[in-house]
Amino acid sequence: MGRFATTVQYYARYREPYPKAFFAQVAAQFGMTGEEELIDVGCGPASLAIGFAPFVAECTGVDPESGMIAAAQSAARQAGIRLKLIQARVEELPETTGTFDVAVIGRALHWMQPGPALRVVERLVKKDGAVAICGSSVAGSPVNPWAEPYDEIRRRWSLENDERRYRMNLDSWFAASRFHLADQVTVNERHELSIDDLIGRAYSRSTTSPAVIGDRRAAFEAEITAAVKPFAQNGVLQEEIRAHAMILREKDPQVRL
Ligand SMILES: C[S@@+](CC[C@H](N)C(=O)[O-])C[C@H]1O[C@@H](n2cnc3c(N)ncnc32)[C@H](O)[C@@H]1O
Repeated sequence: MGRFATTVQYYARYREPYPKAFFAQVAAQFGMTGEEELIDVGCGPASLAIGFAPFVAECTGVDPESGMIAAAQSAARQAGIRLKLIQARVEELPETTGTFDVAVIGRALHWMQPGPALRVVERLVKKDGAVAICGSSVAGSPVNPWAEPYDEIRRRWSLENDERRYRMNLDSWFAASRFHLADQVTVNERHELSIDDLIGRAYSRSTTSPAVIGDRRAAFEAEITAAVKPFAQNGVLQEEIRAHAMILREKDPQVRL
């Protein structure tokens, strides 16, 4: 069973979303013309591919987990978007996969093997193409006073108490490549959510997935509820999320390593 297998049913619904405005701003920053071919690497339920679909000509998603591929297929069908899907680890993609104007990678780079994955990403992206490393998470904002107690519980129950994996250094990941960090886009958005939404979000993470929590679910959910309830009004919490994209473009050939 894959690491994300039991997160699938929670992922698309509860994970911090990418706001609509995020896709429009990244597309504008890229100068997308609607003719691009885009590949979403580590696509999960393909929130990125589906969000960027109106701005490009064709989208492909890649993910090694069969449950995520099925979720991507059904989300694309629901959104009325044609999405080509490949079940594979990026490191294993064959030469025949083709090339793309844009590769997007959302909340997935830290699962990939830096050297082998980088070689494939370099091969996948056309000359003068670009890569966007994306994410969406709870913003450090006074709107989210529940986030600290919630994260404390999540970390305490986590499969890994070391979250260093999630702190990526993009400059070193891409140092030996033809890409360099050229632009950044950040979009904040506020919305309401419920305590059940936060419980579902915890199950969407591989570190506190239903498989990890096992038969302790009632205790886990009771702890989350007790910690965030004081911040809810009539069961409703406020949330501000921050979606970001780090855009990597071709280095000037004069300064390539
Ligand atoms: C946290 S999810 C991110 C999903 C989505 N991209 C997003 O932004 O929400 C990470 C995904 O990366 C996939 N993944 C893990 N290792 C991978 C690899 N070596 N190559 C491609 N995808 C991988 C997992 O199966 C999982 O679906």
